Amino acid sequence: MKHLAIVPGDGIGKEVIAAGMDVLDAVTEISTFDYDGELFDIGADRYLKTGELLTDEDIESLKKKDAIYFGAIGDPRVKPGIMEQGVLLKMRAVFDQYINLRPVTSWFPLVPLKREVPFDMHFLRENTEDFYMGAGGEFGPSNGDCKLKVKRELYTLDIDLNVDAEPKDDFAFEIGFLSRKGITRFADYAFKYAQARGEDKVTLVDKANVCTHVYGMQREIFQQKADEYGMKLEFMFVDAMAMAMIVRPETFGTIAVPNLFGDILTDLGAQLQGGLGMGGSGNINPHGVSMFEPIHGSAPDIAGQGKANPIAAVLAAQMLLTNQGYPEEGQMLHDAVRHVLDTGKTTPDLGGKLKTAEVGKAIAEYVLNQKR
Ligand code: IPM
Ligand code: MG
Repeated sequence: MKHLAIVPGDGIGKEVIAAGMDVLDAVTEISTFDYDGELFDIGADRYLKTGELLTDEDIESLKKKDAIYFGAIGDPRVKPGIMEQGVLLKMRAVFDQYINLRPVTSWFPLVPLKREVPFDMHFLRENTEDFYMGAGGEFGPSNGDCKLKVKRELYTLDIDLNVDAEPKDDFAFEIGFLSRKGITRFADYAFKYAQARGEDKVTLVDKANVCTHVYGMQREIFQQKADEYGMKLEFMFVDAMAMAMIVRPETFGTIAVPNLFGDILTDLGAQLQGGLGMGGSGNINPHGVSMFEPIHGSAPDIAGQGKANPIAAVLAAQMLLTNQGYPEEGQMLHDAVRHVLDTGKTTPDLGGKLKTAEVGKAIAEYVLNQKR
């Protein structure tokens, strides 16, 4: 029995997670997978009522779970950044979910490329470091001097900034940093992941020609790991990678990418495979509690109308099953998604006529039919 935390969050998160749970329920009917789901009321509604984001109490309860099934966060009534930082990014940081796995698969006929070549790129986005640490500040005549202190489980940094620029100006800065420890565990995961997929190469994306410090160290460590694993390492600058994803996506397998570039490239990837509604993702701590979520956000403009495509949430459920030791059941969800695409049982964004819940039911029905 797996103990799952269910965190629908805001907007369409609620609808797509409900559909995903119908599908998970179907999986319990036809396999040895079984779960109990505890619903967590974390999101904008609660925040507006109580001011709470992700509380210590939430964290204590979530710690006891095997995995978290997460919908989306973000609400127009709340200033941008508050929910994202206070819930989603905090979740990733607190549970040290250092890998963000985002597969980009050619879901024909949704792929918007002219060439019909199948591809299956697996992005591993580093999820805890780089420009996502909130390490920054403002200084200058309007703000005075700046002393920056960054505290993480991995490190404590004390930085004194005494910039004496003429003419005196106001500055704002955001520090992107990587640790040897953080890069090493990321590289290990990437090479192991590629190996498990039967590949002999990892592609590392960076901007080492400009941000030479952080990405220089990253290259050095990845190269050591490549030698250790006896595997190939390919370097790609992020700008060139954006082009290559369009012209030759079939040449990539496992792709390791730092946090910020990974955020951008995986949205491009989501569109390549058929839209944000087709992108599932896993925030993975191989030794802790992982969290599975659709890549898309809370889409407040269509929330509550049954218009949201639940496939990304179902693909997130696939990753959850695989992560929890049920890869065949996971594959079944993948096949079920293929089936609803082939039979037009989709929401209007994919050309179908069904509501969110109906797509969930169609996928669940396919799963139930797999019972032998
Ligand atoms: C994502 C999202 C988040 C991110 C936002 C909501 C903070 O864009 O999961 O890709 O940038 O990581
Ligand atoms: Mg993003």
